[in-house]
Amino acid sequence: MNKRSVRDLDVSGKRVLVRVDFNVPVKNGEVTDDTRIRRALPTIRYLLEKGARPILISHLGRPKGEPDPRYTMGPVAKRLEELLGAPVLKLDAAVGPEVEKALKNPGEGVALLENSRFYPGETKNDPAFAEQFATLADLYVDDAFGAAHRAHATTVGVAERLPAAAGLLVEDEIDYLDKVLSEPERPFVAILGGAKVSDKVGVIESLLRVADTLLIGGAMCFTFFMAQGFEVGKSLVEDEYTEEAGRLMNEAGERLVLPVDIVVAERMEEDATSQIVRVDEIPEGTMGLDVGPETVERFGEHIAGAKTVFWNGPMGVFEMDAFAKGTEGVARAVAESGATSIVGGGDSVAAVTKLGLEDEMSHISTGGGASLEYIEGKELPGIAVLPNKEDA
Ligand code: 3PG
Repeated sequence: MNKRSVRDLDVSGKRVLVRVDFNVPVKNGEVTDDTRIRRALPTIRYLLEKGARPILISHLGRPKGEPDPRYTMGPVAKRLEELLGAPVLKLDAAVGPEVEKALKNPGEGVALLENSRFYPGETKNDPAFAEQFATLADLYVDDAFGAAHRAHATTVGVAERLPAAAGLLVEDEIDYLDKVLSEPERPFVAILGGAKVSDKVGVIESLLRVADTLLIGGAMCFTFFMAQGFEVGKSLVEDEYTEEAGRLMNEAGERLVLPVDIVVAERMEEDATSQIVRVDEIPEGTMGLDVGPETVERFGEHIAGAKTVFWNGPMGVFEMDAFAKGTEGVARAVAESGATSIVGGGDSVAAVTKLGLEDEMSHISTGGGASLEYIEGKELPGIAVLPNKEDA
């Protein structure tokens, strides 16, 4: 990565504001998936070892610009302490006189500020709000890859006001994605799932430029089936995107591979009676909820021959066991392929984690939306704002 790195900064004795993405699931006051916290540890430990004071800031959920106890960073602080094996100074606000007082002297150990989205200035990238963060620290490090596609005060505004650099996680994420985009070992197989074609047109086009094969599953395949004139029953479709889907299929030819069989049911419920049908025989009154076994086998053959795999999005409603087999089959195939594998997106990552296959993947991205936007060729504001190495 060509951006200034935290390793290029002299951090000793400095207060370093670190933007992390601790937007993690919390249930009954407990963090239920701590992946994003664990992945930020290398940067935090690096700063501690170098004698810096990391001051961590993150958003959590989507509160409406004011304090909301459902989204407090309290549970995150607790989990972070456990993982670090050291106390974390959790502050009750993100900015303001109390915070400034508490962080005035470099001090020791890690401090964690309250949710940045408890303030309206965060998502507006309000200059006065960003300035308040700048007064808290000497340096800024961005390690929030998952939030790099947001131009907010803590991802962009403050980076313009302090000497800034990328953290170790951001470097790692960008290096992996750059490798996929610029010099993938071939065959390169990309797998896309999820509900909507509309969300992924740009990504599909971008992947078709670099990948040898693109496998498409998830509910978005029904829009492709509609484009072929098939009946899809009550399945989720985006009528206004059938033309676009048809165009993508024509352009890609055999490189775009769609399911051949589908698991359908009358209701999207765990106990609904399901059946496996050919994609051009979806019965009226049923909806497709997963890809079928023959599709899993065919996708598996493509994946087995791959040297590079990029996967984003589930193949079906994988939260329900009855419709999870497609996603699980793909996860297993990727794990067994021996290819350089990059998995992004909350649901596909959750499937990999549920099956205990994390260690079999080369890289699990902490940013679903961010990784897709990067692959699409969009500029990520949180990365673009960081100075290049040569400007450092
Ligand atoms: C994510 O979970 O994708 C990131 O933390 C960004 O969150 P947001 O979509 O609420 O901005």
